[in-house]
Amino acid sequence: MLTGNEIRQKFIEFFESKAHKHFESASLIPDDPTLLLTVAGMVPFKPYFLGQKEAPCPRVTTYQKCIRTNDLENVGRTARHHTFFEMLGNFSFGDYFKREAIVWSWEFVTEVLGLPKDKLWVTVFTTDDEAEKIWIEDCHFPKERIVRMGESENWWAAGPTGSCGPCSEIHVDLGPEYGGDENSKIGDEGTDNRYIEIWNLVFTEWNRMEDGHLEPLPKKNIDTGAGLERIAAMVQGKSNNFETDLLFPLVEEAGRLTNSKYHESPEKDFSLKVITDHSRAVTFLIHDGVIPSNEGRGYVLRRILRRAVRHGRLLGQKELFLYKMVKKVVDQFAIAYPDLTANLENIQKIVKIEEEKFSNTLDQGIQLVNEQIEMALQAGKSSLDGEITFKMYDTYGFPYELTEEICNERGIAVSQEEFLAKMEEQKEKARSARAVIMEKGQDSFIEEFYDKHGVTEFTGYHSTEEKAKLLNIRQKEDGTLLLIFDKTPFYGESGGQVGDHGSISSEAFQGKVLDVKKQKEIFTHIVEVVSGEAEEGKEYTLTVDSKYRAAVSKNHTATHLLHKALREVLGTHVQQAGSLVDSEKLRFDFSHYEAMTEEQIQEVEERVNEKISEAIAVEVSHKTMEEAKACGAMMLFGDKYGDVVRVVHVPGFSTELCGGIHVENIGHIGLFKIVSEGGIAAGVRRIEAKTGYEAYRFVEENIGMLKKTAKLLKTEDSLLLEKVEKVLQEEKEKAREITSLKDKIAKQEAEALYTHALEIADVKVFMAKYEDKSMDDLRKMIDFVKDKEENAIVVLTSTFEKLSFAVGVSKALTGKYKAGNLVKIAAEITGGKGGGKPDFAQAGGKDKSKIEEAMEAIKKAIKENK
Ligand code: SER
Repeated sequence: MLTGNEIRQKFIEFFESKAHKHFESASLIPDDPTLLLTVAGMVPFKPYFLGQKEAPCPRVTTYQKCIRTNDLENVGRTARHHTFFEMLGNFSFGDYFKREAIVWSWEFVTEVLGLPKDKLWVTVFTTDDEAEKIWIEDCHFPKERIVRMGESENWWAAGPTGSCGPCSEIHVDLGPEYGGDENSKIGDEGTDNRYIEIWNLVFTEWNRMEDGHLEPLPKKNIDTGAGLERIAAMVQGKSNNFETDLLFPLVEEAGRLTNSKYHESPEKDFSLKVITDHSRAVTFLIHDGVIPSNEGRGYVLRRILRRAVRHGRLLGQKELFLYKMVKKVVDQFAIAYPDLTANLENIQKIVKIEEEKFSNTLDQGIQLVNEQIEMALQAGKSSLDGEITFKMYDTYGFPYELTEEICNERGIAVSQEEFLAKMEEQKEKARSARAVIMEKGQDSFIEEFYDKHGVTEFTGYHSTEEKAKLLNIRQKEDGTLLLIFDKTPFYGESGGQVGDHGSISSEAFQGKVLDVKKQKEIFTHIVEVVSGEAEEGKEYTLTVDSKYRAAVSKNHTATHLLHKALREVLGTHVQQAGSLVDSEKLRFDFSHYEAMTEEQIQEVEERVNEKISEAIAVEVSHKTMEEAKACGAMMLFGDKYGDVVRVVHVPGFSTELCGGIHVENIGHIGLFKIVSEGGIAAGVRRIEAKTGYEAYRFVEENIGMLKKTAKLLKTEDSLLLEKVEKVLQEEKEKAREITSLKDKIAKQEAEALYTHALEIADVKVFMAKYEDKSMDDLRKMIDFVKDKEENAIVVLTSTFEKLSFAVGVSKALTGKYKAGNLVKIAAEITGGKGGGKPDFAQAGGKDKSKIEEAMEAIKKAIKENK
């Protein structure tokens, strides 16, 4: 029986034997702004299907990491739902078509996997006679097990527009015990769990346009996708993906960490499967650079992680456990994704931080639910409505089951129906949002432009001036123009580097380039008109502002040096999590779980400046992916599937894949200065730094501040530190002196109280009014009297800063008189609030004109309390 790992490997080998090239799995973060996550094996190849880019080779095979979260609630409940899964695929970009795709899939399924032919079924698109004919004639597949199905089943598209086509699916029949009877066929009611789809062969030959009509793609393509987990389940005779050798070790580990056993109860199995699936998704998402947050991918990760933690709680696990799953996931999948191993510690740390945070959220959530219950009770309600239970879940990440549990305990009704209705409402919103995300045309204008003119030629690596033909003009509402030329020396914003600035001119037109955006290799210049009118078809001179570009380049190359230095000083877990490079600064986000120390910051800064002083020439070359990897290139992004990548190399120090513009020699950076270091999310730090002239300015400003300070303190720059220390010391001494003087004054004032002490109901009552005493002063005076008198009440008030009252009662009298009660009388009369202990209490008041009245009222209270 084949193991999951063997199936994966045999698939690749099989298609390699059919002249396919094996490409490594692309990241879960697609290089495609229209998609949130890689949802299918074909995602990295979208530009090849649409003919926007030339495929590096016509036949490709992959096992691709994928994430789908549209059915999150079902994961764990069913036998086959996953968030993370691996998709096996073979692809043809204008090369072979239906016949080979079908015949090879049949050969693999029956001869390599050895699945029994009589248990296999096939579906084809309603009108696809050609596919059916191939199945019957070339594979000798029995016609009675071929089912024709419509668009909802046998048409595949990555989104509402873009490449698509009819498909043919291979299914395994698990037999009547999973639904239906001997005469059932695919699609019959009640047979969903019986016929298991294992492979989808898509004949991608159409492009769906915005208005819905189909246009033939330039070339016919093949996109096939087979879920590895499903195939493993079928091959290994398991009715449930979680019991395959790919996932069962994770189920067992989840059981070990939560003291639960698989097959003890359906609820426990549900939770164990959730933890199994989600720990894998969490590990791979973080590995690919996603960080938990409240939006986009970070939110997807956060939701998955929280759902797993919550299921840990349902299993009775209150301690942190999820981060411990990561090790098992890495052990299990490092064979197919070897780079996981080096990242293990980093992934664990990020999971742990987030898990800890959520555990606290859970504790807080319990409190919030209780508050909501109080509010409902006070409003005379006997139930919590769906709005609230859903908000608890959605905003605070607090599980509905827990809300329900607490409400039950407190005798408050909750309606799961209402909650689910709200959930459905939100899912609906998410679905329409996703429809937008999945759409090909992030800007249909760009698509149309592309169809007409193709891409812009970028000449900016070597030149800063170019004569180019204007191909398109659009005007924005604010009056600026969007101009696209056949070629341009202007860098378009990408890879964290901002677009170039500069000018565009002809005899009839002058414009200032404010920014340049790049979409699908089409460069759009955002231009402010200085004079004249621009005209399509005319030639213009495009001139890049070299000074601006030089400043940006310095920051970009310095970013590479910083990245390398951080890895040297902090460790190789440091990975880029985002970057922004403009003319004034660079901003670099990276994975690291604690604040950097002053020493580390200094060391990194020193390392970078040391290198700069070596004035090493930067080498830019184009290499194959394999060569680039062999020379240790750090970041693998951008053209992952292009055969050739651009490598920016600072010999002896840094190697990165990068499409940005760099200085020729790192000596040009001049100076590198870190301006700030701080945290931006759990496990992610941000450094801002300056280079060149900006760094000099920053240093200058700081030195200027130092000089001014020295002058104010009347000392030399070099003696400033000593002077500040001395001033601080003096200040401390003065503060001590002031305190002791205040004590003395308080004592004297307290003594003065004796001159007008009252005797009310056998109690010595001291009352006084001040304008210049702080609460601290009043307290001191009260303590002084209380120390001396066993039978006294002191009532003091001051209007210093704001009206306040302080009342002290000798310990021996507190049985009878409570300072808190007395001070409240004053507070009430003067419109304030107060309270405290029986022997000392304080209050604030508002109405100063009522001080006398308040004092009299207290006197009266003392008297009456006799
Ligand atoms: N794109 C198709 C799918 O995801 C086949 O790979 O099912």
